[in-house]
Formats: sequence, C-alpha cells, structure tokens
Amino acid sequence: MNWSSAIEQAIETTKANLSRFKDKFPHVSNGDGKYRLVDHTDWTEGFWAGILWLSYEYGKDPAIREAAVRSAASFQKRVAQHSHLEHHDIGFLYSLSAKAQWILEKDETAKAVALQAANVLMKRWRESSQLIQAWGPKGDPDNGGRIIIDCLMNLPLLYWAAEQTGDRKYADAARIHAEKSRRFLVRGDDSSYHTFYFDQETGDAVRGGTHQGFRDGSTWTRGQAWGIYGFALAYRYFKEPQFMEASKRLARYFIAHLPEDHVAYWDFDAPQAEGTPRDSSASAIAACGMLELLEHLPDGDPDREWLDTAVRQSMSSLVDRYFTAGDASEEGFLRHGSYSVRGGISPDDFVIWGDYFFLEALLRLEAGIPGYWYER
Ligand code: GLY
Repeated sequence: MNWSSAIEQAIETTKANLSRFKDKFPHVSNGDGKYRLVDHTDWTEGFWAGILWLSYEYGKDPAIREAAVRSAASFQKRVAQHSHLEHHDIGFLYSLSAKAQWILEKDETAKAVALQAANVLMKRWRESSQLIQAWGPKGDPDNGGRIIIDCLMNLPLLYWAAEQTGDRKYADAARIHAEKSRRFLVRGDDSSYHTFYFDQETGDAVRGGTHQGFRDGSTWTRGQAWGIYGFALAYRYFKEPQFMEASKRLARYFIAHLPEDHVAYWDFDAPQAEGTPRDSSASAIAACGMLELLEHLPDGDPDREWLDTAVRQSMSSLVDRYFTAGDASEEGFLRHGSYSVRGGISPDDFVIWGDYFFLEALLRLEAGIPGYWYER
C-alpha cells in the first residue's frame, strides 16, 4: 500500500472514531480493538488532538476540524485548573493541541493556552540540580533529581515559548536539560538509559536506571526513539552539532538492533525472539525522528542514504504488517504497541502515541507536514 492510501485509510478510521470517542480521549487498548477512553487525567490526550489536527490539515474535512476545535476548550480548562499536570508531559499535551491550533490557525486564545502550559512546565525546572524534574513534587525522595529521556519531546514547547515571547529563560532551561540528557542518558556504545538520577541538592550524577525498560542498564526501545527525535529537534532549535550527533548515534544503534521485519521489540535487551512483544510505536517515533534528521542533512551527505533506507523499510513494514488499514472494527492504526510490558499495561496492542507518530511519519513522507513541534 502506498503512503497516500495509508493516510486516507487512517483518516477514515479517525472519522469513524469521532462518534465512538465523543469528547473523551483514547489512551491504550487491551487486545479487543477498542481504546480505553480517558478524560484529561493522563499524559496522552494531546495525541488524539494531534491526530485530529494532522487529519484536518491533510484532508480539510470540516467535521474533523470541528472535533479538534471542540477538544481545545478542554485543554484550556485543564491548564487553567492545573488539573493532572504534576509531571513533565505538559509538552506532549500542549504541543499537539493548543500549539497545533496556533500553528495552523493563528488562534490567539490557543497561543495563550500554549504559553500558559509552557509556564507550568517551567515550574518543574530545578535550579539546584539544573534539570527539569520528570515526575512527582519538588523534593520527592525518589524522583526529585530524576530525568527521563522522554522529556526531550517536551522541550519543544519551551523552544517555542522562547521564540514567541522573546524570553530566553525557556530556551536556557531547555538547553541545559537537553545537554544533561545527552551527557548522561546516551551511553558510549550509542545505546541509552531510560532515566538518570542526580543529587537534588548538588546536581551530582548518581546513576542510570529504568522505569519501563527490561532492566536498569537495558535499552528501552521507545526511550531510544524519543532520544532520536528529541535530539534532532534540539538541533533544529539550537543548531549545536552535538545534538545532531547524539540523534544520529541513537538512530544507528536503533537500526542496527532491529529484527528482520524492521520493527522494534519493546526493549533491545529483551530476548529478540518470537513471543517477545514489539513496540510498533517506538518504530513510528524513530521514523519521525529520522525524517526530522534528514531535514538537516544537505544533499550528498553520506548519512542520508542509511537514514532514508531505514525510514522506508520501517514504514513499509508498519504499513504492510501492523496497520489496521481502515478496518471498521478496529479503533487504532498500529497493532503491537507496548505501553509498559513489565507493568502489564497494554503490552501488545494500540497505544495512541503510536497512532499519532505513524500518521505524522506518513504525512512527513507524503505531504511534507511535520507535526506541531515547531513553527513552520
Ligand atoms: N512518555 C511515556 C511513555 O513513553 O510511555
């Protein structure tokens, strides 16, 4: 199936989902083809908004726009009430909702909501340890000095806030955090830690560890994918070569450790064998990250070929073997995503971020639409 047919079929599924989801938000599913619906309590609601904006941007269907605009009010209410925002995933939530609406429609209310969200994210900046705390309240004994690789995808909200306001504080914090992530999360062999602990008072490095991976020193494939994309976006904003280098290194490792069908298992250190769950979402995120990297490499650059080949192999496999291809009984796009294998949550089914990044990758390939991480 070619990219444009895949996009059309994904949009068909999205249209069918409008009446199924109403004003709720899909999160993950558990093997029955149906999403569990949540109501602005999680880190994932922005992905549905992002799917709506991407689908509308490509197809211009007014019913999809109407649903996207309707969802905007709920994001506005959430940040105004500061509801369920005690974590760093504010970047995921608001880049793909309010910021997307601003990018597409120059809606001033949406811009104000996205800036308000950036201010809430800035409250997680810890001056003493010089990092953005991922989880838990300030001073939390377990998480107070902890960074996680996923946070690299929350930073674009801060890059954007710096551009919009002219206030460097957002970019300065984001740069220090991205550089710390590069130094401590990326290992010498180009694999990565999911998380790293620092002393809360002094900022001294303590140790690497994991939250969702196979074990502390393993390479959780989705974390590696967040790193590929997150460092590529840090390069877009700061133009500092070490960020591009980090993204490329993580991409090389990711590609070198894929199984035959070019779609990642859930952790590169889990047994790479029949029966081990995949994480199709990791492959979709990595494809977007590699497409972003390609945007910054000039024609003739020797790294273009292996990156381009890897994206096409992974995306072809996702489309041919993992995509539900408009099947009316299925609410998601990508089968075999894994949320938390060790935690027993959706170890092998739809995850809404997998669907978002699958559609973003298709739209990058087919239509040059790069999602809503940055102004165009
Ligand atoms: N950012 C949370 C996850 O990737 O599961």
